[in-house]
Amino acid sequence: MCGIVGYTGTRMAAPILLEGLRQLEYRGYDSAGIAVIHDGQVSLSKVTGRISALAEKTQDGKLLPGTTGIGHTRWATHGAPTDANAHPHTSNDGRFAVVHNGIIENHAELREELMAAGYRFESETDTEVVVHLVEQYYQGDLKQAVMRASSRLRGSYALGIVCSDAPDHIFVAREASPLILGIGIGENFFASDVTALVSNTRNVIYLDDGEYAELSPEGVQVYDCAGHPIGKEVSRVTWDIQAAEKGGYDHFMLKEMTEQPRAVKSTITPRIRNGEVSLDDMDIDLAEINKIVITACGSAYYAGCSGKYAIEKLTRISVQTELASELRYNDPLIDGHTLLIVLSQSGETADTIAAMRECQSRGAKALAIVNVVGSTIAKLADYCLYTWAGPEIAVATTKGYTTQLTALYLFALYAGKKLGTLQDGEYRKLISSLKSLPKLMQQALDMNPHIPTLAKKYHNADSLFFIGRNTDYAVALEAALKMKEISYIHAEAYAAGELKHGTIALVHEGQGVVALCCNESILEKTLSNIIEVKARGAEVLAVAYKGNPKILSCADDYLYIPKVPTLFSAAVEILPLQMLAYYVARENGCDIDKPKNLAKSVTVE
Ligand code: M6R
Repeated sequence: MCGIVGYTGTRMAAPILLEGLRQLEYRGYDSAGIAVIHDGQVSLSKVTGRISALAEKTQDGKLLPGTTGIGHTRWATHGAPTDANAHPHTSNDGRFAVVHNGIIENHAELREELMAAGYRFESETDTEVVVHLVEQYYQGDLKQAVMRASSRLRGSYALGIVCSDAPDHIFVAREASPLILGIGIGENFFASDVTALVSNTRNVIYLDDGEYAELSPEGVQVYDCAGHPIGKEVSRVTWDIQAAEKGGYDHFMLKEMTEQPRAVKSTITPRIRNGEVSLDDMDIDLAEINKIVITACGSAYYAGCSGKYAIEKLTRISVQTELASELRYNDPLIDGHTLLIVLSQSGETADTIAAMRECQSRGAKALAIVNVVGSTIAKLADYCLYTWAGPEIAVATTKGYTTQLTALYLFALYAGKKLGTLQDGEYRKLISSLKSLPKLMQQALDMNPHIPTLAKKYHNADSLFFIGRNTDYAVALEAALKMKEISYIHAEAYAAGELKHGTIALVHEGQGVVALCCNESILEKTLSNIIEVKARGAEVLAVAYKGNPKILSCADDYLYIPKVPTLFSAAVEILPLQMLAYYVARENGCDIDKPKNLAKSVTVE
């Protein structure tokens, strides 16, 4: 997904921009560029491909001297990944350059209008209309020109704009796309992601929708949508850039998988006080709620599918899980008695934001479970529960998913207690089980040293089935997604009982089937499904409690987890399956942290 950065100060801008863009690489991109103001002119460099190519082309920025500039990594939406379509885009008179995150929905009509007015377009992008609009409206006042131009835009944008007439100024604007200012001493920055700022400053301002800001080396001034100066709170970023680096692991994904016990502990610890789940500021009137809807995308959605079991069990409120990309087209049955739970690691997923807005407009209150502080979803939510997982860099989420699950468990316990549907003794027992999750997760990571060997057996598979029932099925959904997205092996999750209704036709000699067998209440049923696929020649890899004799007698291979109460088992059961996907992808030589065609945060619908 696109990323933007900007710098104005006394140092050479280009090397700082290149470094900022490197920090955004994890988001996925296909081209990059920077523009720097030097000697009263905009100098530009763009490449299709990696930041390293841009660094080479500009001799690490030396070929673009100047102390004010903007940069961009592009993930193609409108027009192929080419140098011409890469940002920054410049005006016909060469005075303005623009970088943009988001999508301008009315770009086609604006393009037509601007072409009729004589503007020449160099790219196929939606963004280019912005720079021509700014040129058209510019009468010596950049702020006025940016405000007039952005008033013509429909869609989402985080914009960074420079003009050679104001050589040490940058203008930025935000609408439905993240934009953060970095406050330095004698220098200032902006970026679409705080990761690109922290090596230079920890003092940041999160812009809100409709706001603008003007940056110069001397300071920053934020304006509201009417152009009036406003004061904004400066927040301090507490995590270290080291925390976002690999720390000795071969891949961010491996590092993040091993961090999960600690991350889950961070989700739980501040919320359990004096033996009670305490969710600060959560004054939801649960007695008024007759339905809970969980919405999210991808793994976050699958976390919701697992969490549903715990919430329904402990609250006896019906929980519906809805893909965010589908929800708002379904004329959803949502009203003031619905509690919406929104899950998002990044807090910036466009479909999830849209679904949330739709439900809020129908009267639902939204509880967001989010990792990134100050993200759009966190801000839009009526209540927010941060997962405190720390920065997640690998595109394939791991600690994001397990901490979302944990937050749902916390909510289930909290709501069950509040509603009186969870009795005191059971409540205390479950709190104690929840507190032991980090330890059990660590055991699950430690008790499967044979995963790299298993990966050598399964990495050549054309396809894999992941089967399970009930809570095991919800985990199978996430396990199959992990396998697909990083190893590129076709993987399909099936409710085990559904096999005989069609899918078993695909099971042949040597077909890999991963059978999730951790829900003991329905174990016998899953066992009979294992026997069915074995009878047709499948190779079965079972995930089970260590030492479970029934499983040991019927599968070919095993992944083990320690005994966990079924209600919370998903957070432990997924761990060896994430590891399996990782080692299979490694065997296949895949780009694990940046799988092809994927982006870390999907900020377009
Ligand atoms: O940032 P979010 O949690 O909203 O992201 C949702 C999905 O895009 C994300 O979980 C995606 O499915 C991951 N690639 C899965 O590993």
